[in-house]
Amino acid sequence: MPNPSAGHARRGAAAAGSMAAVADRPRATPPDPPLTDGVVALRRAVPADRAGLLEDGRDPEMQRWTNTPDPYGDREADEELAWFLSCWDDPAKPLALVVADPATDRYLGAVVVMRDRPAGIVELGYGVNPNARGRGVGTRAVGLAARWAFAELGAARVEARTDPENLPSQRLLAAAGFTREGVERKSRVIKGRRHDMVCWSLLPADVGAAPPPAG
Ligand SMILES: CC(C)(COP(=O)(O)OP(=O)(O)OC[C@H]1O[C@@H](n2cnc3c(N)ncnc32)[C@H](O)[C@@H]1OP(=O)(O)O)[C@@H](O)C(=O)NCCC(=O)NCCS
Repeated sequence: MPNPSAGHARRGAAAAGSMAAVADRPRATPPDPPLTDGVVALRRAVPADRAGLLEDGRDPEMQRWTNTPDPYGDREADEELAWFLSCWDDPAKPLALVVADPATDRYLGAVVVMRDRPAGIVELGYGVNPNARGRGVGTRAVGLAARWAFAELGAARVEARTDPENLPSQRLLAAAGFTREGVERKSRVIKGRRHDMVCWSLLPADVGAAPPPAG
């Protein structure tokens, strides 16, 4: 049985706790055709993504900043792929969007949308395959995923959290238009240790998206 908590937390900070009722969550459908800006695409996972997940899981940066199981091997990749594939059928699970090359469909990374947050709030976790870093893939993917969350999930606020020392992740969020709100002291556990986290947010108005009905 895959462990969605461990799985999604490896793309970002662990959940703070279950707050919005699962039954209240709007049903989510994966972008089909894939959502794309012409440079990256977001789509649901396919079995061929397993090799990319395995590379990510073994990457030292992914291990350092996220709750990626250590060691990460075939079993962990199988489990992660299984919940990436099944998440759309279970409103209790976070939603996994694979970042792909729109021309080749090759796996470039993943953005996970966590919905166990107060009503109207989602939190993104993300990782880019080590072979695809440093060329804007993460910034584009997080921007697309946030717009998707506003449009398809009716989100009123998209959050992300980073370790204060994770500079690439903070630069990514700034480049994607997020506002740095401040440091939450010892707010999340990563690899068994409680860490300060920087909280970032993006609102629909920040990207010219329509606000949800409740404002
Ligand atoms: C964080 C991560 C997703 C960034 O993905 P990416 O595709 O390389 O990011 P981008 O190419 O869009 O670059 C985003 C910004 O980070 C900067 N950056 C990228 N790699 C960097 C590095 N090693 N050191 C410093 N800055 C870096 C870029 O210059 C860019 O900033 P700019 O717009 O001010 O120039 C990727 O490094 C990763 O997967 N890390 C491991 C997992 C992780 O940390 N996840 C986030 C947990 S909160």
